[in-house]
Amino acid sequence: MSSSELNRAFWDRQSDEYQEHHKAFIGTPEPRWGMWQIPESELRILGDVADKDVLELGCGAAQWAILLGKQGARMVALDNSERQLEHARRLMADAGVDFPLLHSRAESVPLPDASFDVVFCDHGALTFADPHLVVPEVARLLRPDGLFVFSHLTPLAWICGDEDDYVVDRLVMDYFDVHRYDDADGSVLFQLPYGEWIRLFRRNGLTVEELIEVQPPEGAPSTYRTPEETAWARRWPMEEIWKVRKWS
Ligand SMILES: C[S@@+](CC[C@H](N)C(=O)[O-])C[C@H]1O[C@@H](n2cnc3c(N)ncnc32)[C@H](O)[C@@H]1O
Repeated sequence: MSSSELNRAFWDRQSDEYQEHHKAFIGTPEPRWGMWQIPESELRILGDVADKDVLELGCGAAQWAILLGKQGARMVALDNSERQLEHARRLMADAGVDFPLLHSRAESVPLPDASFDVVFCDHGALTFADPHLVVPEVARLLRPDGLFVFSHLTPLAWICGDEDDYVVDRLVMDYFDVHRYDDADGSVLFQLPYGEWIRLFRRNGLTVEELIEVQPPEGAPSTYRTPEETAWARRWPMEEIWKVRKWS
């Protein structure tokens, strides 16, 4: 099975439990990033999305897309898991908003070239799909000067992960081999060394504007990480957000 088939099966299986576990933590009245839900209004990485065509790649239950839609973005939200999109339909109805939901894998998006001003995800497709396939797709979908933003785990957290997915204070995995990880839970994760991320962006006509290494506030709550892991992330970067721009 391909990684997108494995991840589709994984997310269809996990979706109900995931949404139940995180529902009170994510999707609050303002858009917030990642494992510690740092407000976008603080980071200001996406900026004003009103009247922009915005694509979310791996939207889950569309908590982000709903909030950006309310800010005036013309949203399209894509996900590889039909069960995640069923949750998205429910939350959209509750919020009284409507926009297209697309059941597709991010590696091959059935939409025309240059359709979007912004493509983004928060621990979405760039975590679960091969960047060598997704980054060219994003570059194709963006208009000149368009913005590509995504959050994911850092390569450092990746190579400090032990077999139980817990971060430890020593290097466990080889850095230069970082690419695909087949987890025991059936999901498949992707990552690249930093130099390779930058080469991949440039090969596809994209320039890095910013790399935000998230340092959570002390004792920050999280439904994704234990207090010990949050203390780790106070010392070393565990989560990062790339802000990349397509050449004009
Ligand atoms: C951790 S969730 C993140 C979603 C949302 N931002 C959230 O915080 O709940 C990851 C999402 O990526 C989706 N996904 C995984 N592989 C994908 C792929 N190849 N293409 C598109 N979406 C994918 C999953 O189905 C899942 O909904």
